Amino acid sequence: MYPADITESLKKVEANRAENTAMEPRRMTAEEKDELLATYHPDYRQDQFEEIKVGANKGEKAPHELADMLQANSRIKPEEIDLTKIDYDVDVLVIGGGGAGASAAIEADNAGANVMVVTKLRMGDANTMMAEGGIQAADKPNDSPAIHYVDAYGGGHFAAKPELLYRLVTEAPEAIQWLNDLGVEFDKAPDGTMITTHGGGTSRKRMHAAKDYSGAEIMRTLRDEVLNRQIPVVDFTAAIELILDEKGNAAGAVLMNMETKEILIARAKTVIIATGGAGRMHYQGFPTSNHYGATADGLVLGYRAGAKLLYQDTLQYHPTGAAYPSQIFGALVTEKVRSLGAKLVNANGEVFMHPLETRDVSAASIIRECGARGNGVKTPDGIGLWLDTPMIEIKNGEGTIEKRIPAMMRMFGKYGIDIRKEPILVYPTLHYQNGGLDISANNMTSVNNLFVAGEAVGGIHGRNRLMGNSLLDIIVFGRSAGKNAAEASKSAKLGNLSLEHVNKFAKELADAGIKTDKVSPKLLPNYTKSKDI
Ligand code: FUM
Repeated sequence: MYPADITESLKKVEANRAENTAMEPRRMTAEEKDELLATYHPDYRQDQFEEIKVGANKGEKAPHELADMLQANSRIKPEEIDLTKIDYDVDVLVIGGGGAGASAAIEADNAGANVMVVTKLRMGDANTMMAEGGIQAADKPNDSPAIHYVDAYGGGHFAAKPELLYRLVTEAPEAIQWLNDLGVEFDKAPDGTMITTHGGGTSRKRMHAAKDYSGAEIMRTLRDEVLNRQIPVVDFTAAIELILDEKGNAAGAVLMNMETKEILIARAKTVIIATGGAGRMHYQGFPTSNHYGATADGLVLGYRAGAKLLYQDTLQYHPTGAAYPSQIFGALVTEKVRSLGAKLVNANGEVFMHPLETRDVSAASIIRECGARGNGVKTPDGIGLWLDTPMIEIKNGEGTIEKRIPAMMRMFGKYGIDIRKEPILVYPTLHYQNGGLDISANNMTSVNNLFVAGEAVGGIHGRNRLMGNSLLDIIVFGRSAGKNAAEASKSAKLGNLSLEHVNKFAKELADAGIKTDKVSPKLLPNYTKSKDI
């Protein structure tokens, strides 16, 4: 159900549908992609970035919004915190209750460690839960981890850390098996083999899915496993500062009850940051597909404790966020819609690009088509382009949409749009933080016994991530973070707890002439005018 001013364009899409479905748009050349990205991708808008003035990445650039948080004031005054009053004393402290945190907690528990999860919302309130399209693994006869590596390395502009990407792709088949054994209901053919599809930039069909709510299905299973094992979960409680010991080893965290603001101390022999992404930072004013709690907290906590960031200047804008109706503005329209055959069509009813270019290229191409080329469709909230979903059933037969992407059908159906019969309007939405904390192959940062897993890690994917490699990395690196932190906790000897690094960072800010009334980590987005959140 579209407003009258949009239906003119809609008629052109319908008129060209048969021809558009049959045509095979060409792929862009490497030169075309480079030029497109440099001109239209938000990562290349120099005025949206600034130099970091303090800390381990001093002199490098970051988006203004992140630089503000990295260089903000702590939420605590160290001298007011009593580090002798320990509320929780554990081997492994996992900060974050998403897929990476849950996987880490399960493996730390398996390794016999006394592990606790702390999360500012509830277990499972995380980007994992919002993931739709699937999880990659090269486990079919025509595929291999080497081919997976090449796809991801090229898609990430050859910037991934080889030792991390190697682990991602080689441990992928086992990750799928682990999830399957835990009870994830993957889509399977009648003979029991997993159904796999393409994603942008994949040369083989290796996307395993649970319809179009793959993340929810994975998170449901992991959360059940954590709860069934009776791993302690402290929810509605945020980590607001890391604690080090006097030798500079990670040694726990200062926690804050989100409701009462009570401060609690968790002492831990090892700490895992699994705090997820940053979509709710709304970089460059973009809407987001992310969970409410995605505010880059782990990057801030780690940075203030001395850990280095990698690729903090690169974000992923998912090409297809919902552009209409307003109620779902920015929500994820899974890439699987294009994997199944829907093409991107401009306001004149023309297909203007291959539907499965990599994400950064696709997003930039849509931005160009709507902007410089003037071929967008005006919507009540801005602009968008058509994603011609009825093509899916022309190509694959009636019933495909309901069977393979029922969540999409439901999401738009609520607003009177039947995606089997009508196309939808899309525009890029802030989706993923390509950068994060720099780790070595064993998940550890430059701070001893401080581990990271999931979207808070930088470098696994380079400067652009392929679809389905994030659900994969939370499992591969979540599991290994749990194992490695548990192992390290066996020999860790904690000295006196200290927050001296917080004072040191504050002094660096003062010395750099940075005066700010902002505090970080952000914890939650503030959609009101109030400064109190
Ligand atoms: O399009 C999607 O379903 C998103 C997947 C991902 O970010 O990996």
